[in-house]
Amino acid sequence: MTTLNLPLAGRAANLVGSVIDSSTSLLAAQKHDIIRFAMGAPADEFVPVRAFTEIAASVHDSSSFTYGATEGEPVLISALVDYLEGTAEPTSAERISITSGGMQGLDIACKLFVDPGDLVIVESPTYTNGSATALSYGAELLEVPMDEDGMDVDELERLVAEAGRTPKAIYTIPNFQNPSGTTLSTERRERIIALARRWGAVIIDDDPYGLLRFAGEDLPGFRQLSGDDPLVFSVRTFSKILAPGLRVGWIDADPSLRQLIINAKQAMDTCTNVPAQHVVAEFLRRGILDEHLAGLRTEYRNRRDAMLASLDKHLSGRVRTTHPDGGFFLWVTLTGEDAAVDTRRLFEIALAEGVAFIPGPALSAGGRFASAFRLCFASTGPERTDAGVQRLTTALDAALAETRQDSAAAAGTGPASGRG
Ligand SMILES: Cc1ncc(COP(=O)(O)O)c(C=O)c1O
Repeated sequence: MTTLNLPLAGRAANLVGSVIDSSTSLLAAQKHDIIRFAMGAPADEFVPVRAFTEIAASVHDSSSFTYGATEGEPVLISALVDYLEGTAEPTSAERISITSGGMQGLDIACKLFVDPGDLVIVESPTYTNGSATALSYGAELLEVPMDEDGMDVDELERLVAEAGRTPKAIYTIPNFQNPSGTTLSTERRERIIALARRWGAVIIDDDPYGLLRFAGEDLPGFRQLSGDDPLVFSVRTFSKILAPGLRVGWIDADPSLRQLIINAKQAMDTCTNVPAQHVVAEFLRRGILDEHLAGLRTEYRNRRDAMLASLDKHLSGRVRTTHPDGGFFLWVTLTGEDAAVDTRRLFEIALAEGVAFIPGPALSAGGRFASAFRLCFASTGPERTDAGVQRLTTALDAALAETRQDSAAAAGTGPASGRG
């Protein structure tokens, strides 16, 4: 990127942007039919538009369109606390601050806890918008590998010892992680709490998908396991359970942090969108969220099953996948000879073929995972999933042929594929 000769702040160089978000514009610009396994958005057909429109007509008056309290509309905070009372994460009003989506919660967490040069632990792979937020405050990231039980805590300890300094924050997505779909085991949650206490590090507990479990049992959260330790800073959002365009989320943090959170937010956007907060509050107040979530869980389980079945049908023996119990995502790793294919190139071929996903390197702060990619199963109906995986298979065949040709050319035994 070139910039004019402008007096940019040093931190501008740390603003890395989001490949994930950029794919929204890239996909919108395509004119041909594309089956979308890329964005982590709820399916359009599951956004409760009719309820929103009806509620909007009934709740809004002129007071809905003025500035609201920075910490959130009291009616939303109280409806949220009432709703959470019946979940695995009951809380209290003085812990809650309403935010402009989960991203603002992450931004506030980093603004409050991360100084330039601080070490921040991130999962590898991770939600790179979250790691980018830490980078924007000058963090140095330490990527910790994952397995089917989430972040590998033995590796976490080893890598921190190797780094020779302790982290300031541990950024984790404990349930149905974005992008791997895996869930952090209870034993590992407990070990992370013990390590955070030992290191004096905050746990940035980012959980947009926890309410979307469609198999297995809920695991206790960090706050519960730690007895409300102030080191646990929880970031939540309505984006995945209601609609991302609302831009309404919340922070659940120790009440002693509330004023700092308000101060940080006042330097950003003054208050969260007031009309949207009133719509969400009334949706909660009417008691329809549980029924809505039950519908989502059934549908998303069907969609996960459809995707796993199609991957098995078309790509058996060529890929390894995770098996999520909730959320939106599957993580796919190419195996055998296919592992030589770079999924950034596969993405280009697949897009032309009419299917989109997010290549692995976009989901790692250090650009790892060239032979892996993320599939979102949530936004495509099961009737289209198989066609999408078929297109993906055609693209993989073409990418493999190209990779073979390139390696033969590099070895001097064949012509290059001729691409630039
Ligand atoms: C792990 C994770 N955290 C935070 C967010 C951001 O949520 P929001 O859209 O509410 O800002 C997302 C959205 O994809 C996410 O997957």
